Amino acid sequence: MVRQSSRQLVLGFFSSFSPPAWHAASDRLHGADWASGAFHSRLAKRVEEECFDFLFFEDTSSVSRIGGSMDLDLANVYSSPKNDPVALLPFLAAQTERLGLVATASTSLYPPYLLARALGTLDSLSGGRIGWNIVTTSEKESAQNFGMDDLPPVAERYDRADEFVEVVSKLWDSWEAGAVIADVERGIYTDPAGVREIAHEGRYFKVRGPLNSAPSPQGRPVFVQAGGSDKGRDFAAKHAEIIMSTTIGGVEAMKSFREDVQGRMKSFGRDPRECKILYLARVNIADSMDQFRASITDEQIRTVLGTHSAHLGIDLTRFDMHKPIPQDAVTNGTTSMFDALKKKGAQGQSIRDVMIDFNWGDRNNGQIGKAGDVADYLIDMMEEAGGDGYLIGATKEANANFLSGIFDGLVPALKERGAMQRAYGSGATLRERLFGAH
Ligand SMILES: Cc1cc2nc3c(=O)[nH]c(=O)nc-3n(C[C@H](O)[C@H](O)[C@H](O)COP(=O)(O)O)c2cc1C
Repeated sequence: MVRQSSRQLVLGFFSSFSPPAWHAASDRLHGADWASGAFHSRLAKRVEEECFDFLFFEDTSSVSRIGGSMDLDLANVYSSPKNDPVALLPFLAAQTERLGLVATASTSLYPPYLLARALGTLDSLSGGRIGWNIVTTSEKESAQNFGMDDLPPVAERYDRADEFVEVVSKLWDSWEAGAVIADVERGIYTDPAGVREIAHEGRYFKVRGPLNSAPSPQGRPVFVQAGGSDKGRDFAAKHAEIIMSTTIGGVEAMKSFREDVQGRMKSFGRDPRECKILYLARVNIADSMDQFRASITDEQIRTVLGTHSAHLGIDLTRFDMHKPIPQDAVTNGTTSMFDALKKKGAQGQSIRDVMIDFNWGDRNNGQIGKAGDVADYLIDMMEEAGGDGYLIGATKEANANFLSGIFDGLVPALKERGAMQRAYGSGATLRERLFGAH
């Protein structure tokens, strides 16, 4: 008899509109058709078949210059190529029926009118299944693609984000739900009494309105956010319907994050039940920890070493990864990662071993292992930390092994334990399926 979860979890699948695993061990052409949307279309159909609540796309808007040039990013698919998830969603919406679709769009880069219209249109195209991951962007390189030399400090980015949300909300409300009457007798398509200018003039934006697009099934997309800073958490607590964090730091960190944002919600006059709290879990299903570690290829390790090298200012790829790092290796600045690499090297651990600990999780990581054990671990964490569910996914390595571990292993194990829905609820839209119809 398997253990049973006391409740069903909300589950999102975390993805990126970029090459899913270009140097996968088992299939080097896995996802080679990603740019056409074909890979993510197959993914969306499977994610829907398994009844995940939504498919989530992270996003950034630049080729990074880690290490002082674009070389490392381009060679290793660090943050590019990455296509635009907002443009991908209608393609996926046409091939699915119930699955929620969440795209990331930045309040520091988009003009509010343009985004309100695009997301409203998407919500109509998808029959009310759109979510918006609200980010303020943290890369200087992205700011430089939009007329800025650098990003404003984080607190100011959130001030602007607050006003941005105010403007897009006013725009989405600028048409009453019943404004389109299509009254053939009277010759009136839209009732003028149901449409208003917003005449917004604030610190950052000046927008006359109204929108020129029709009201959508949800009225506005589901607001998703993952603020970590003080201002970011306030922003999430004020606006978000899904707040995301990670499982890094374990149950204690998850619990204190949840208590903190729920406390903030109350101080803004919101009921914590108005928001789902989800944690990004980096799950890997394997027969054993040793088998999982052995399945990581040297090419994968080299990629990881390449990006750490840039951050550390030392080329780690010139050392033999199967041996400990030489104790006389030095870097300009010390970081906790480099210190650990040296310390573990002194104990005889190879660079490869330490990199696996850092990037996939060490031997104590309960998110790596047999499907049933990982399912139990996730259920236990949720009972202890509180919250509503998880985002499951791997941004870099969604290879065939990873995907089959999730869909053929973890998903059936979660369903068997009553932790995952076997059919979509009756709500008509993503919001209604998450919170019930009001
Ligand atoms: C699950 C998750 C997904 C995120 N997705 C993105 C993203 O797609 N693009 C982005 O620029 N930032 C993303 N972030 C970063 C957050 O938006 C936020 O900036 C970060 O958690 C730091 O918080 P702060 O902005 O309050 O400093 C994500 C964070 C988490 C935990």
